[in-house]
Amino acid sequence: MDFEKLAAERYSERLFDSRPVEQEKIDKILAVGRLAPTACNYQPQRIYVMQSEEALKKVRNIRVSHFNAPLMMLICYDAAAAWRNPRDEMYDSYCSGEQDATIVAATMMYEAQELGVHTVWLRGFNSSEVKKAFSLPENIIPVMMFAMGYPANNSAPNPWHFMRKPLDETVTVL
Ligand SMILES: Cc1cc2nc3c(=O)[nH]c(=O)nc-3n(C[C@H](O)[C@H](O)[C@H](O)COP(=O)(O)O)c2cc1C
Repeated sequence: MDFEKLAAERYSERLFDSRPVEQEKIDKILAVGRLAPTACNYQPQRIYVMQSEEALKKVRNIRVSHFNAPLMMLICYDAAAAWRNPRDEMYDSYCSGEQDATIVAATMMYEAQELGVHTVWLRGFNSSEVKKAFSLPENIIPVMMFAMGYPANNSAPNPWHFMRKPLDETVTVL
């Protein structure tokens, strides 16, 4: 699909059908995410795919809006594997991990949309709770989660979807 159309059609899905996402589509989404750029190509993203009842049950116990999606993904980065920039004086060795994980996630989000799989980007969780629930090692930092699946028949974008600021509020031409 034309990218402009794809971007315009995507909205945060919060009403999922119970139909599972086919493994072939999950594999494609992960494979396209793998093509995303990362700082120095270090690829510190670490992705946890939650499809089993056990994993979904765990995530549903965390205070995150799972919206009863049949598939969830947790996108993290490995702080021991991410690029660091010692030259940036604003930070104590700036770590690119969050950016790396985010661009991978965004790439996956649009591939999912291309395949008809809807998503909602979730960050309203407590990282400590997530780390504990999935026994994540110290260096694995949760960045975001996706609830994913097919839209229910009566699904529609939330009113927020239509509220975009004018470009002159967010863009400065220098
Ligand atoms: C960093 C980030 C965090 C978000 N966290 C949540 C969340 O925790 N729960 C939720 O329902 N939506 C969450 N969203 C979705 C936004 O609310 C949504 O993208 C925004 O309102 C615009 O609507 P649209 O995606 O339908 O265009 C998040 C989006 C981003 C990019």
